Amino acid sequence: MAILLPGGAGYIGSHTAIELLKEGKEIVIIDDFSNSNPKVLKAIKKITNRDFKFYEMDYQDKAKLEKVFQENKIDAVINFAGYKAVGESVQKPIEYYTNNVSGALVLLDTMRKYGCKKFIFSSSATVYGEPERIPITEECKTGGTTNPYGTTKLFIEQILKDCYASDPTWDICILRYFNPVGAHESGLIGEEPQGIPNNLMPYIVRVANGTLKELSVFGNDYDTKDGTGVRDYIHVVDLAKGHLKALDKINQEQKGLYIYNLGTGTGYSVLDMVKAFEKATGQKVAYKIAPRRPGDIATCYADPRKSKKRIRMGSNQNIRGYVSRFLELY
Ligand code: WQD
Repeated sequence: MAILLPGGAGYIGSHTAIELLKEGKEIVIIDDFSNSNPKVLKAIKKITNRDFKFYEMDYQDKAKLEKVFQENKIDAVINFAGYKAVGESVQKPIEYYTNNVSGALVLLDTMRKYGCKKFIFSSSATVYGEPERIPITEECKTGGTTNPYGTTKLFIEQILKDCYASDPTWDICILRYFNPVGAHESGLIGEEPQGIPNNLMPYIVRVANGTLKELSVFGNDYDTKDGTGVRDYIHVVDLAKGHLKALDKINQEQKGLYIYNLGTGTGYSVLDMVKAFEKATGQKVAYKIAPRRPGDIATCYADPRKSKKRIRMGSNQNIRGYVSRFLELY
């Protein structure tokens, strides 16, 4: 019985693949490398000393997806496939809705056809839009999303709720990620976006290693402690382990649809992250204050109590640990 990982060669998917393989699970990865690198597959095998099946394909290709289900006994699906850059989604809404929403529909339809009803979805804190309160609990209202990326996640969450309402034999876990950062301790995999990074930490790293000239800090006039955006940066390995805990819950006891915030409960500003990186590495990071980025909000961090209680989500990696790990990679 295998676990299918669409987008499993990507940043979150590859770190989760490692944790699943370390637990002795059988996995199948499908990925089109639109936002990932083929060398990650070799790194996963090297880190875990385990093999797995891989299909290079677009998860929207129904014929190819059916072939995966015909050739493998898929017990559950953890869907990592999807474009994920807030800023980029404002520029490319059609690409984001097509890839993220249509892809999810093809996946769910194929799962249903082959009797696979265990689904873990990588959602996002961006579904809360401008949060009604901070820290954010799962009970906070969603909607009013400020960018197409967040809206695609909101739409897919609604699709999952409707699926479950129509057929309660679905077992669904919606995991709302806050800001994943960091890299596996081996330094063999990490966040390696194609081209110029949209996200903060890969951008900082590339300024630190001289690849990029300076960081643009998108706004210092927000209502935060230092005027720059505040986010909840969760180490990617903690995030990956959260998926295994969600899977255990589905396999052991869960019947239904559950939603969990995956964050640390602590917010850090952009300048906090720059300073933490400089302190941990001794490397200056040149930056300038730039205009706000369309789609951004001021503050976003989790109340993690429910995920800690219900799926025993841990957060063992501190920012310093994460930052020092980044250096192994770059
Ligand atoms: C963080 C902060 C920017 C780049 C991310 C993911 C998204 C989702 C939510 C999981 C903001 C500032 C950034 C730069 C900057 N995660 N920034 N200069 O927008 O919170 O969204 O987390 O689902 O997938 O994209 O993350 O890293 O882009 O921005 O000042 O060059 O850093 O304004 O305050 P964001 P980010």
